Amino acid sequence: MNKIIVVVGGTSGIGKNVSNLLKKDGNTVICIGRKPTDPTQYKVDITMEQEIENFFSIIKDKYGKIDILINSAGYGISGAAELSSFTEVKNLFDVNYFGAFRIIKYALPIMNKNSKIINISSCCALFPLPFRIHYCASKSALSSLSYGLRMELEGTGIQVSTINPGDVMTNFIYTRKKDFSTNSRYGMRVGNAQVLIDKNNKKRMSVEYVSKKIFNIINKEKVKAMYIIGTKYKIFNFFSKLIPINVFLKIINKFFGGGKIYQL
Ligand SMILES: NC(=O)c1ccc[n+]([C@@H]2O[C@H](COP(=O)([O-])OP(=O)(O)OC[C@H]3O[C@@H](n4cnc5c(N)ncnc54)[C@H](OP(=O)(O)O)[C@@H]3O)[C@@H](O)[C@H]2O)c1
Repeated sequence: MNKIIVVVGGTSGIGKNVSNLLKKDGNTVICIGRKPTDPTQYKVDITMEQEIENFFSIIKDKYGKIDILINSAGYGISGAAELSSFTEVKNLFDVNYFGAFRIIKYALPIMNKNSKIINISSCCALFPLPFRIHYCASKSALSSLSYGLRMELEGTGIQVSTINPGDVMTNFIYTRKKDFSTNSRYGMRVGNAQVLIDKNNKKRMSVEYVSKKIFNIINKEKVKAMYIIGTKYKIFNFFSKLIPINVFLKIINKFFGGGKIYQL
């Protein structure tokens, strides 16, 4: 293909695996993250506007343009929404939402016709999960930004797509900040719900499978506004549209609300 591709969060997990596939396909791929793992990657913290500005000025001087921008940087937090630290929630949004926004703001001036922005959101943007609400909210915000940009950039030749993977086996399960704070209102549910997340780790999709799907989406001439990766998540999404929201939330809470005690 030989496109100029920037992968934000290309130092690990989904971003890294997608980058390798894109490199093998003959593209020039530039990965960024806070912890570069090889000399070709750039050290950029997406919460730092100056670092982002410097990075894109290098890209402009070196390549003059970006054909594909992939926003894959992000992490999760879990715990009771009410008891979450305000600082932790702000830090989360600073990466998952404002980080992607900062990147897009500095990338767009060097993106022309026939270019694409691919935002890696999450199925958590589609289904709010109890005791993971701030992560879901940060990804819903990212999806809204993505859909909004798709409309605002219509006719410019810049396509915007949101990809929602289900659970994937990456470092994400280790970087998630777990908060077990509880009170008489939530009792054991906070802990139970988080044990359930880890219990289900074995069922996660492989990063290779998910990355290949994302690679195939990126290679499409026209990308759709939204993709879901994982059959069970597609089915869940389909049924969520058919039933009233109060019934849907009851069902989600029954499975994920920590009412049942799980052991690892
Ligand atoms: N794994 C899942 O189950 C899953 C499911 C749905 C959606 N997602 C989303 O997929 C994306 C990739 O996650 P992953 O599973 O590949 O996890 P991962 O292996 O932990 O990768 C996360 C990436 O984000 C980067 N990052 C985090 N904070 C950053 C910051 N402040 N500045 C720059 N880069 C930063 C990390 O780079 P450094 O550490 O080098 O900074 C790393 O490259 C995330 O947005 C995540 O929310 C994951």
